[in-house]
Amino acid sequence: MNTLLELKQIKLHYKNYNTSVEVIKGIDLKIHSGEKVAVVGKSGSGKTSLIMLMGGLEKPSSGEIIFDQQSISSFSEDQLADIRKQKIGIVFQSFYLIPNYTALENVSLILEINGVGNAKQQAEELLVQFGLKDRLNHFPTQLSGGEQQRVAIARSMAVKPKMILADEPTGNLDSENSDMISKLLFEYADKNQSSLVLVTHDLKFAEKCDRMIKIEDGMIV
Ligand SMILES: Nc1ncnc2c1ncn2[C@@H]1O[C@H](COP(=O)(O)OP(=O)(O)OP(=O)(O)O)[C@@H](O)[C@H]1O
Ligand SMILES: [Mg+2]
Repeated sequence: MNTLLELKQIKLHYKNYNTSVEVIKGIDLKIHSGEKVAVVGKSGSGKTSLIMLMGGLEKPSSGEIIFDQQSISSFSEDQLADIRKQKIGIVFQSFYLIPNYTALENVSLILEINGVGNAKQQAEELLVQFGLKDRLNHFPTQLSGGEQQRVAIARSMAVKPKMILADEPTGNLDSENSDMISKLLFEYADKNQSSLVLVTHDLKFAEKCDRMIKIEDGMIV
């Protein structure tokens, strides 16, 4: 199997004033193309920090990250932004939709940024598949949490990214919505042959992944 993402001896320090805390303490990890990996661990163990590193939203203090055969840990902010918009979809617990954009606009924007011709039409098709046919022109505040997360997931998958990073995407949702969201994530990862890294406290979802890794105090155990 092809390796899509490789972390080599990754460390991350957060600096506050004159103190520096090491939150990721030397992680080695390979994720294959199309592989689904669950990340579990206690609060504060470093799961979100790991996702931020994988998505190029944080730079490692040391070590190397190779994504899609490129050493992205040495990339500039602009290069990282390009990689993120073309190849990586990120979903958070809080949905981070653009508040003054409708559901349709939130999804079509990413397609437009990537130069897709019929962005609106593609965005609409995706949202309809996600059960949001009657919510296309609603603004985020007019949508339920589950609906907002479906828009966020549609947005993260619109460009068929090679990797989807999801940090507790069902953390704010009831069980019915959680089931729907995880189903969409798994189905679309399969369909697009995207790798999926899913941080979750819910073992039911973690067990559906190909592999589960546990983080404890900034290390894989
Ligand atoms: N910007 C920051 N500055 C300093 N410390 C931070 C920062 N962000 C996170 N931390 C610390 O890093 C550690 C790991 O945090 P992280 O958010 O990765 O944990 P987590 O496993 O995602 O936890 P949770 O399950 O609660 O989301 C924690 O001790 C946290 O306090
Ligand atoms: Mg977290």
